Amino acid sequence: MLNKKISELLDDQFNKEMYSAYLYLDYANYYHEQGLDGFANWYDIQAQEERDHAMLIRTYLHNNGEKLALEAIEKPSGVYRSIEEPLRLALQHERYITDQINQIYKAADKVNDYRSMQFLDWFVKEQGEEEKNSEDLIRKFELFGNEAKGLYALNQELLARRYAAPSLVL
Ligand SMILES: [Fe+2]
Ligand SMILES: [Fe+2]
Repeated sequence: MLNKKISELLDDQFNKEMYSAYLYLDYANYYHEQGLDGFANWYDIQAQEERDHAMLIRTYLHNNGEKLALEAIEKPSGVYRSIEEPLRLALQHERYITDQINQIYKAADKVNDYRSMQFLDWFVKEQGEEEKNSEDLIRKFELFGNEAKGLYALNQELLARRYAAPSLVL
């Protein structure tokens, strides 16, 4: 059993990770429509990773005898004004998720739930990587994305990304 509050916060975070997967699928769809298969690949993989994050939380809740309540997943906008916009929105979203993880961490600390803090350590580190990846992509786009050859090369680079299962095993 976990502290009720922590269990609820983790349940809520499961939904946010599923929303993250949904959001990144939406970006991937947009890039498919734009003919940018590399950008689409990048966000398809992001979406897979976000689903993994959700599943890790699910396993953790189950391992601790908790139930997971599935809630409706919010609908992403589907409308983007430029090929740069999803990149910026992604960074904004990752910063928001970092803040959410930190809040659960703080709540766990408050009730001496060291087990959940240790579980969340992986997410704290992961968010550092997520923010860095998002920032790096924006920077590359600023450097190369505004002319055709640079955009083509960047798209090819993103096309080479391969999915890797999460390093955390529960
Ligand atoms: Fe995530
Ligand atoms: Fe993420």
